[in-house]
Amino acid sequence: MKTINKVILGLTIVGSLTSLAAAGDAALFKKCAGCHGMNAEKKALGKSQVIQGWKASKIETALNGYKDGSYGGPMKALMKGQVATLNEAQIKSLAKYIESKK
Ligand code: HEC
Repeated sequence: MKTINKVILGLTIVGSLTSLAAAGDAALFKKCAGCHGMNAEKKALGKSQVIQGWKASKIETALNGYKDGSYGGPMKALMKGQVATLNEAQIKSLAKYIESKK
């Protein structure tokens, strides 16, 4: 009986984490949308490339690069501030979310 309860508890936790991650994409992107557009269709502040249509891997490289300083143009300091507090999983889910915008 105890084992079954643990399994059920485990499944419940995994289940809620999964839905949190799914909700996270859109919630995380909200702060990006102000500059990049709701569908990532804008040149942020008239300066960035349009990231709509980018592959998740390319977005991930850019975001990780802003974080460690290895990527970016004249306004990379601004983007560093945007991604500095994101962890790897959040960057991955953001990249997937943006890729899904067409
Ligand atoms: C205050 C406006 C602003 C916000 C908010 C913002 N960005 Fe940006 N973003 C920019 C600018 C400006 C650039 C171009 C920076 C540079 O010179 O490299 C850029 C560049 C990028 C690039 C690379 C495009 C390129 O031109 O190489 C990606 C990907 C990106 N942003 C994703 C995001 C994500 C994801 C978020 C939310 C976590 C976000 N941005 C939030 C303004 C913003």
